Amino acid sequence: MRSCLRLIWCVVLAVVASAQEEVVASAVAHARAHPQGDAPASFVVADYRRDLRDLPIGVFDSGVGGLTVLEAIKAHDRHHNLTGAEGADGVPDFAGESFVYFGDQANMPYGNYSAVGRTDFLRELVLRDALFLLGRRHARGAKPPVKAIVIACNTATAYGLEDIRSAVKAWGVPVIVVGVVEAGAQGLAETAEGAQGGVAVLATVGTCASNAYPKAIVKVSGRPVRQLGSATLAAAIEGDPSVKTPIRDIIRAEVGAFLRSASADQAVTIDTLMLGCTHYPLVADEISEAFAYWRDQPDADGRKPYARLVAPKLKQVDPAAWTAEALWRSLHGAKMRVEPKSTARDLFFVSVPNPAWPGVGLAADGSLTYEYKYGRQPGQVGREDTINVPLTADMLPAPTARLVREKLPLTWKSLQPAR
Ligand code: DGL
Repeated sequence: MRSCLRLIWCVVLAVVASAQEEVVASAVAHARAHPQGDAPASFVVADYRRDLRDLPIGVFDSGVGGLTVLEAIKAHDRHHNLTGAEGADGVPDFAGESFVYFGDQANMPYGNYSAVGRTDFLRELVLRDALFLLGRRHARGAKPPVKAIVIACNTATAYGLEDIRSAVKAWGVPVIVVGVVEAGAQGLAETAEGAQGGVAVLATVGTCASNAYPKAIVKVSGRPVRQLGSATLAAAIEGDPSVKTPIRDIIRAEVGAFLRSASADQAVTIDTLMLGCTHYPLVADEISEAFAYWRDQPDADGRKPYARLVAPKLKQVDPAAWTAEALWRSLHGAKMRVEPKSTARDLFFVSVPNPAWPGVGLAADGSLTYEYKYGRQPGQVGREDTINVPLTADMLPAPTARLVREKLPLTWKSLQPAR
């Protein structure tokens, strides 16, 4: 009986693995079939047969969350720019570099594809994001290719980092590929500052389902991890009009439910919060407040049931700065840093639904319907049911624009139109 079950399990794993390989193989074949970059989701092969140093750095997320990573990269100063030696020199480490940012807003939340069994489709989306950055086309004109791809999205890193790495290897494209999850775990290990208790990973449902953070954290620190997966918070931060509950209330309710279950399991005291979704640094204060609120909340008997579970001082780890450092080290190691002289502007793009695509499911507000968005199958990396257009600050919903303006000043500045 046991060996029979083992056999079935091995067959299931083999089927899943071959479906995953299929996603990468078909993206690789598609791009290879269009070496001139003349089809959607393809790039000009010749662009990657020359010196890449002067090209911009590509950064992508499912939406605006990755802007928190872009901000951290722009602010990063941990090295002497001329020598590369360790130590801040007052000049940002990426001074002179320019960036191409892409937010796949039309297809987000990425975090919800796993709940409907569509991680293969998500992995195709992530490969498509990488191809967009490598290529020269957007829906309204031309863009430059990139020398590095920063996956500024935990969900995309969890499901797609290895896919992008194997695809660029198969294409023979020497771009740097960096994700946020290992960088975040490394940051946690390097900045423990006495915190040795439990780690709460706050992330999307999809990132939690992948177990990427528990694996990475246990590997570098051995600390106990509990996960809090949210299906709505990233979309709320993105300004999704279908989310009616205020952000603060969503966070408070979800942290309350998380602590109730941790308490039932007699979990260890949590002293560290991992911001495992790139949208969350934008609401970091609200997250801390929610934990502090529940810590002090008395029950009917006047006891504080969560006081033991939440340390009085909580440390937050934002993987963004650690991702910036990982990027710097990779570019430096590959001698692909640009001299601080370039004046090229950053470019920003966002995906929008394409009403001209046959069979596309559009809601009254023009967004993809839930059924359409989460009902798609992989196998068509060049599909254009969404297209990528330039993003400017005035396209952001007002609350999102306020968050970016207040919390990400460097990025906000580069999002403004050229004068
Ligand atoms: N910002 C993404 C992340 O870091 C998630 C948002 C989404 O679900 O699309 O995981």
